[in-house]
Amino acid sequence: MIDLTGKVVVVTGGCSGIGRGTVQVLHRAGARVACIDVQDEKGEALTAELGDRVLYAHADVTSEAEIAAAFDRVMQRFGGVDALFNNAGAAEPLGSDPFDVALFERVQRLLVSSIVLGTKFAIPSMVGRGGGSIVNTASIAGLQAGYGPFAYSVAKGAVIHLSRVAAAGLAKYAIRVNAICPGLIPTAIFGRALGDSIADADRRARDIGERAHGFQPIRVAGAPEDIGNAVAYFVSDLSRFVTGQFLAVDGGLTVGPRQAWDEDAAVEAWTRFGMSAEQIRGVFGAA
Ligand SMILES: NC(=O)c1ccc[n+]([C@@H]2O[C@H](COP(=O)([O-])OP(=O)(O)OC[C@H]3O[C@@H](n4cnc5c(N)ncnc54)[C@H](O)[C@@H]3O)[C@@H](O)[C@H]2O)c1
Repeated sequence: MIDLTGKVVVVTGGCSGIGRGTVQVLHRAGARVACIDVQDEKGEALTAELGDRVLYAHADVTSEAEIAAAFDRVMQRFGGVDALFNNAGAAEPLGSDPFDVALFERVQRLLVSSIVLGTKFAIPSMVGRGGGSIVNTASIAGLQAGYGPFAYSVAKGAVIHLSRVAAAGLAKYAIRVNAICPGLIPTAIFGRALGDSIADADRRARDIGERAHGFQPIRVAGAPEDIGNAVAYFVSDLSRFVTGQFLAVDGGLTVGPRQAWDEDAAVEAWTRFGMSAEQIRGVFGAA
């Protein structure tokens, strides 16, 4: 297990899903963790569960004044910031008009501008402490089409490049910046994009979790802790020579099209060209 004792990490969107799982991983690794979110009840429950190495601060990540105030609280409580996980997010409602420019801009503000804001308030403390690590949640939707709605996917592509450009600019302060591209992680994000209440979205996440094992080459459902473990690596000094990169944590989903790893899909794709099912299945070996 990676040892993060002595590190202070800020996690946005830490009350649910990937953020919550990451708060738990970082806490187990010994870090002091500040969770920034807007779900106060869940935030208070998390601090009650994990104790005084976890701080909950209410802030809307799109509001500069609220983020500034939240970082002030973190500084007062923990005295500095070593790492920041810019993770809060949501997708636009599924079925939205891609040409609704006001909605498009709201999504970019939530998913991209919020990272600029978090980074802005983390930098002074990181510079003062001789360096730091910033990790941004992108998505496989930012790598390939077909994994998210329009504004969301565009924003996630921007997060990957934002991470590179920021890494270039901040390397002189020993601040590293990397992005993680999660694959399918059963969380409330799906229900929220379908218009569910938070409670229904949590239920839907559990339901998706029970059916997600066949969605990617690795035959288990992804979990928030899988992303948390990658964040722990980027926060730790084990990754001290890694910056400006993205890591897909997706169970192999982006290795290739489905027919690359799913025999039935391969048979369906190739038998139309005159090859037999046996010939296609042979490509996958006898296992
Ligand atoms: N779940 C997946 O399959 C998946 C895949 C790729 C990327 N992601 C990304 O992971 C991140 C976390 O999403 P999740 O899947 O854990 O969803 P989630 O809905 O479980 O968690 C999102 C969290 O962000 C918070 N949040 C939303 N808007 C906020 C705001 N304006 N200010 C402060 N907090 C806000 C929510 O309250 C919630 O706690 C998002 O950036 C999402 O785009 C998720």
